[in-house]
Amino acid sequence: MNNTVDRSEELKKIHERWFVDCECELKNIATQPVPGDGNSSSEIVFIGEAPGKEEDKQGRPFVGAAGKFLAEMLETIKLKREEIYITNIVKYRPPNNRDPLPEEKDACRAWLIEELNFINPKLIVFLGRHSMNDFFPNEKISAVHGKLLIKKFKNIKTKHFLPLYHPAAALYNGGMRETLIEDFKKIPKILEKIENKEKEEIKIEQIKLF
Ligand code: URA
Repeated sequence: MNNTVDRSEELKKIHERWFVDCECELKNIATQPVPGDGNSSSEIVFIGEAPGKEEDKQGRPFVGAAGKFLAEMLETIKLKREEIYITNIVKYRPPNNRDPLPEEKDACRAWLIEELNFINPKLIVFLGRHSMNDFFPNEKISAVHGKLLIKKFKNIKTKHFLPLYHPAAALYNGGMRETLIEDFKKIPKILEKIENKEKEEIKIEQIKLF
């Protein structure tokens, strides 16, 4: 068995454990849990808000209209959906697609942190203000969309974060749609910048050792 298969099996087990252990109240009314999905060794993880109707039905994140738009934007930067990893802050659909409540976000947080640290991506992309504000409560999406945020959180290994508008909000709003597409195109350069920075940091560490 190769390493990728091993890793995705291990991640599947993490999700299966949380299907039982997650104490989110939405569990009682949703059709099923919607765990993160995609490449368990991805360099980028996208985080949305919560599953919608189609996601609740299929048990996979971003499979409705917003997901189709996301897949189109991924193509513009030569990435396929299967090559990256997509998840949500909250793993169960809130009724009538209302915003998730703080206690629902809290109940799903340990699951999110565990999947993020398992994948350990170079870059976390927030899809929309809800997902960004869960990590950066004081930032405004209108001010920081498309800008790289760097922060060392105590419980997360990844240090680089990119907030973007949510594809569902931008889908039918001309100006926001153009901005999101333009911000999306910055992802490859941002990844390159992070990789170069990490190489520099390794060099500095090695110099310190010898
Ligand atoms: N919107 C989200 O935030 N997440 C999904 O999975 C689908 C739509």
